[in-house]
Amino acid sequence: MNVTVFRHERDAAVALADELLAALARRPALVLGLPTGRTPVTLYRRLVELHAQGRADFSQVTTFNLDEFLGLPADHPGSYRAYMTRHLFAPAGIAPAQVHFLDGMASDPEAECARFEATIAAAGGIDLMVLGIGANGHIGFNEPGAGLSARSHRVVLKAQTRRANAAFFGNDPARVPGEALSMGMATILQARRLVLLAMGRGKGRAVERMVNGPVTPRLPASFLQLHEDVEVMLDEAAAERLTRAQS
Ligand code: PGA
Repeated sequence: MNVTVFRHERDAAVALADELLAALARRPALVLGLPTGRTPVTLYRRLVELHAQGRADFSQVTTFNLDEFLGLPADHPGSYRAYMTRHLFAPAGIAPAQVHFLDGMASDPEAECARFEATIAAAGGIDLMVLGIGANGHIGFNEPGAGLSARSHRVVLKAQTRRANAAFFGNDPARVPGEALSMGMATILQARRLVLLAMGRGKGRAVERMVNGPVTPRLPASFLQLHEDVEVMLDEAAAERLTRAQS
């Protein structure tokens, strides 16, 4: 794992946006894996800026989102599709035909997961997967537990994760859907390059265990140690425990 510590969150977003621009220059039909949550908002804002300046052309990219709530219509403001449309797709000119989600309204979630996996394979796999990390070490909605699912699957969300997602549900965790669909850890690890963003002291312990701890389903992010091309981008607060461990 390559770890880079940035002074501010914005510096990490600028660096990752520059990497994306360089990758797009090499391969305009880039296949991206994308996360939601608070962390990537700064990255998406930067990409939208670059697009507005005519420096980023996303017209040929294909995107796959990591996860989606079960049972929420796509236009619900709390759905991850709505989040992506708001923060990136609409302002960066990425058309609905270019983007792929696990459909939380699918009548057969298991078949939907199989369809999603087949669509990723048909696109030639994911070139660059951007990831966040939960304070509990989850990746996507792969929550800590006794075991992990390799492929896209249906998950029951932890109370902590529902609380973290309550903002678009009237700040009431009970209104956050209790289940979701998520890429599995093998789906994620098959991407050619992984870049994980983590900001703030609240992520420090999970980051330290991800980098230095054993590979264990108790901390799904630790499985990233098994991938040969992983970049971890941190701000100083998220890196605090790492630097303490190294000094
Ligand atoms: P956050 O979520 O960016 O909102 O902290 C990350 C995650 O839970 O994966």
